[in-house]
Amino acid sequence: MLDWSDTETIAAPPPRAPLQLNPEPVHPTGLDAIDRSGGRVSIDEKRMINCRADVNQLLPMKYKWAWEKYLAGCNNHWMPTEVSMQADIALWKSKDGLTDDERRAIKRNLGFFAASESLVANNIVLAIYRHLTNPECRQYLLRQSFEEAVHTHTFQYIVESLGLDDGELFNMYREVPSITEKAAWALKHTQHLDDPDFKTGTTETDQAFLRDLVAFYVIFEGMWFYTGFAQILSLGRRNKMVGIAEQYQYILRDESIHLNFGIDVINQIKIENPHLWTKAFQEEVRDMIRTAAELEASYGRDTMPRGFLGLNAALCETYMHFIANRRCAQIGLAGVFDETDNPFPWMSEAMDLKKEKNFFETRVIEYQNGGALSWE
Ligand SMILES: [Fe+2]
Ligand SMILES: [Fe+2]
Repeated sequence: MLDWSDTETIAAPPPRAPLQLNPEPVHPTGLDAIDRSGGRVSIDEKRMINCRADVNQLLPMKYKWAWEKYLAGCNNHWMPTEVSMQADIALWKSKDGLTDDERRAIKRNLGFFAASESLVANNIVLAIYRHLTNPECRQYLLRQSFEEAVHTHTFQYIVESLGLDDGELFNMYREVPSITEKAAWALKHTQHLDDPDFKTGTTETDQAFLRDLVAFYVIFEGMWFYTGFAQILSLGRRNKMVGIAEQYQYILRDESIHLNFGIDVINQIKIENPHLWTKAFQEEVRDMIRTAAELEASYGRDTMPRGFLGLNAALCETYMHFIANRRCAQIGLAGVFDETDNPFPWMSEAMDLKKEKNFFETRVIEYQNGGALSWE
């Protein structure tokens, strides 16, 4: 039996000297030399970017929303290999189960996601993580990185199950122009953060960091992924490729938390650094969202030149306008397109797995119940 009676409480050192009004920005990675004489971290010292407080200390916690998303991500754990692919394999191999248009859309959709999941993961790990100087946000980024690995795993599993040409699928982001244009557009917003000499701390570099957050969280994950989800879930609703549709529903649930985390990060940085959110910068972000919606419309025309099963490029373009306006509102900007109704109202239901008991298995609940180990 352990005896805790003589466990010593280490007394707190005197509080740290008050911060200077305009301190030199510091860029803690968490791997810097230990500040042996520094005072204890207080909540007031914690900041999203350019923080001077120790980034290795989760507590005291300032941003509870980040921790809540970390817990939600953990509760949603799933693995692609737990989804049966039997029905998809039979349909994919049958001669007349799918039209050529459906096959084209499915392959391009998979091709877009297959490399995009890796692009998003690399952006988190190699660009965002280093500059987001808050431990509770980093805790979420670690969880998100793992989820992106699970998503990449999903495409490996689909390729293997259906016997698809992996070279064709994983190279689409370089070889299919409508996919390449999107990836190249997003990459140009993260490439300079990848420069080892890049540091936040000036208006220019802090805005560059915000641009990366908008490009990847609001646009890549928050807009482009959504047309992809709509394509596959629309097939699933008609009982086609139901295994992939179930996997996409889990990915959609993960991605909606990724998106909301990104929105919260952007809004918190705005609160703490109002000088970054100038009128000119707001217009630039609105332009980014408008351009991204146009790139998505081109991708829609390329993947669905004729449309199928109630889905076509024009509807997807309208959906993108609806989503683009919502994303603008979420970060406090005026919409960029005329107001429009959501042409895919069933997409919001698809985000709530518990409502889809007839079509999808309620695996979430099983996970949440089965997650607690009993030591009896
Ligand atoms: Fe993902
Ligand atoms: Fe994601």
